[in-house]
Amino acid sequence: MAEAVKTVKVTIDNITVDVPVGTTILQAARMIGGDVVPPAMCYYSKLQGSGGKCRTCLVEVSKGSEADPRPMPKLVASCRTGVMDGMEVKNMTSPKVEDARNGVVEFLLLNHPLDCPVCDQAGECHLQDLGYQHGKQGTRYEFKRRTFEKHDLGPYIQLHMTRCILCYRCVFTADQLTDKRSHGILSRGDHAEIATYIEKSLDNNFIGNVIDVCPVGALTDKTFRFKNRVWFTKPVNAHRECKCCSGKVTLWQRGEEVLRVTARKDQWGEVEEWICNECRFEKKKTTDWTIEGPTHVSRHSVISQGHYENTIKPKETFTAVHGGRNPQLLMDIHSVSEVNDPSIDLSQINGPATSDVYNHSTKQA
Ligand code: SF4
Ligand code: FES
Repeated sequence: MAEAVKTVKVTIDNITVDVPVGTTILQAARMIGGDVVPPAMCYYSKLQGSGGKCRTCLVEVSKGSEADPRPMPKLVASCRTGVMDGMEVKNMTSPKVEDARNGVVEFLLLNHPLDCPVCDQAGECHLQDLGYQHGKQGTRYEFKRRTFEKHDLGPYIQLHMTRCILCYRCVFTADQLTDKRSHGILSRGDHAEIATYIEKSLDNNFIGNVIDVCPVGALTDKTFRFKNRVWFTKPVNAHRECKCCSGKVTLWQRGEEVLRVTARKDQWGEVEEWICNECRFEKKKTTDWTIEGPTHVSRHSVISQGHYENTIKPKETFTAVHGGRNPQLLMDIHSVSEVNDPSIDLSQINGPATSDVYNHSTKQA
């Protein structure tokens, strides 16, 4: 007979839950869900050894355990601290945690450029969300921000080192998913940076997953860069037969075009199943995929604006509703806007969609 799993009781923000022995405070909070869950910028449940780097998940332990009820003297990283029987934890109910998290966000933003208006990660950036929740309007930092030499991360991945918060997720991903990691963190302290040794190209078939695990816009998809804002695209779940991976992805569409392909993510923003480079970078046609339906997007995400799920398409056409008349009064946006030029297939443009692309197409017309 299978041995019963030993459980312990932990109370987080006054909610008590039974969890298996060995569970961390963060995992226990995730079992409760909602606002009780501390943010996590470096921990990733699918990556061994992750966590303990960013300090955004700090919580207060107001009672150590039933056996030793003394509170822990300092705030602890919830992603790395195991629960004890009878432990009591405060996350959103602790002013100390709130204050510390404000400080951590200020620290993370010391060197992070505020370039959200041009950053591809805007709208789905965990640091942007944290900044809105805990950030201050100004900065007390008086020094020049860090700058870095440009590094080439192969044909598909762009590294903006200035945006990196050194969470190590991409290093663990490369280590644990590929057999030929050629990038890691070089140097220490203020000089620490993600780099490719001797600028080797990262050509492993699963290396594209570093883009999905990056919590900020430091690693972005070169085939999608500057093509569109993420909240203008429509995420749909799709799959295909793939020899290397499960082939289950999210397509980010604009109209019929597939602008980007990513792995599917769970409610914590973590990849559900790793996908290969072929699915991610080379299958950009709707016909390459079997569409399953709209991806579920959290109501709090900016991407949920204009994103509809469970809609039923009316059977009548516009003409039928108007007693046989065609909609003549509606403006055809394509006739007046170069930006919506239907002859431009954004997913087929090699590189960012700049005004040159539109000027060139206008001249040719
Ligand atoms: S590049 Fe992104 S994933 Fe890698 S360490 Fe920096 S922030 Fe983390
Ligand atoms: S998520 Fe716990 S320290 Fe970063």
